[in-house]
Amino acid sequence: MGSSLLSWARRVGAPKGVLRLIALAVGAALVLSGCGEGANMLDPHGTGARDIATLFWVILWMAVGVFVVVEGILLYAVFRFRSTAGASLPRQVQGNTPLEIAWTIVPTVVLLGVLLATFTTMKAVASPVPNALEVTVTGHQWWWEFDYHQQGVSTAGELHIPVNTDVTLHVMSDDVVHNFWVPELDRKVQAIPGHDNIVPIHATTIGTYHGFCAEFCGLEHALMRFDVIVQSPADYAAWLAGQQAPPTPPATAQEKAGATAFTAHGCPICHQLGANKPAGFPHNGVLVRGPNLTHYGSRGIMAGGVMVNNAHDMQLWLADPNAEKPGNLMTIFINKGTLDAQTVQNLTAYLESLK
Ligand code: CUA
Repeated sequence: MGSSLLSWARRVGAPKGVLRLIALAVGAALVLSGCGEGANMLDPHGTGARDIATLFWVILWMAVGVFVVVEGILLYAVFRFRSTAGASLPRQVQGNTPLEIAWTIVPTVVLLGVLLATFTTMKAVASPVPNALEVTVTGHQWWWEFDYHQQGVSTAGELHIPVNTDVTLHVMSDDVVHNFWVPELDRKVQAIPGHDNIVPIHATTIGTYHGFCAEFCGLEHALMRFDVIVQSPADYAAWLAGQQAPPTPPATAQEKAGATAFTAHGCPICHQLGANKPAGFPHNGVLVRGPNLTHYGSRGIMAGGVMVNNAHDMQLWLADPNAEKPGNLMTIFINKGTLDAQTVQNLTAYLESLK
């Protein structure tokens, strides 16, 4: 719609300034709507996002109505009462009590309407639902952890939930303040260390939705992404069963060499594999932990959602993690040249085999 508006303006020969203004408005609309597949807050696929999008349109159309009325009266006055050559001074008026009461009451009523609609939406997107599937979401510099405590499953980067099901997320942080946001599913919610922030989430369409950290949290804030994968109940059950299974033992000689290298290079200090809980590594006053890798090979994305999970990307990552995601905390241990090419290949084969 934006580009057709622009081409229409060109056809009718609008001045350059007007064309620039339209181009700017179209660009701003695309940016502000968070354009892009799976991350458009005006294309809701969850009840929370739907309520928020509805509120946006209600307020937008109310504002359009106010704009049209006010500008209409203004333009009418400008043209109707403009001065003409030789005209005498118009009648001088001072104060108009009914008018002043009206333009105090009308905006008050309009703003009270906005306030009421906002409060109603805030309540709707904040109220926890009983008997929901509970998932604890923990923000880390710079990746997201998802723990299904009742199911005994812990994963990273990808939150799997069944469609048309009430889910309660307990959003927390392990280090600094983050902000958990899936534009097409629900509102933003802050991840604060030591504080359990609850957000209900209820997806209505099967699909993959992109999520972001929405609060500046350090060097890699913009590279702290995740996916929410909304599945049919059967697909979700199959995924859950796969996650609950013990890790796949290494089969080939290369995978076995990778498993040996995994331990030899201290990876289990930060990364969980099976039941072995990592101790974590003290850094800047917190115990740094990395993503649980028990079923790493079953994921579609890696490195905080910045890379695709395949052998090619994993080799790039292991060879020089700082080049792929500058400042990430794996660089405490692994930098360019730490692992030789053969070890990188062995580790990759092993990690990708962890389905
Ligand atoms: Cu985490 Cu920004």
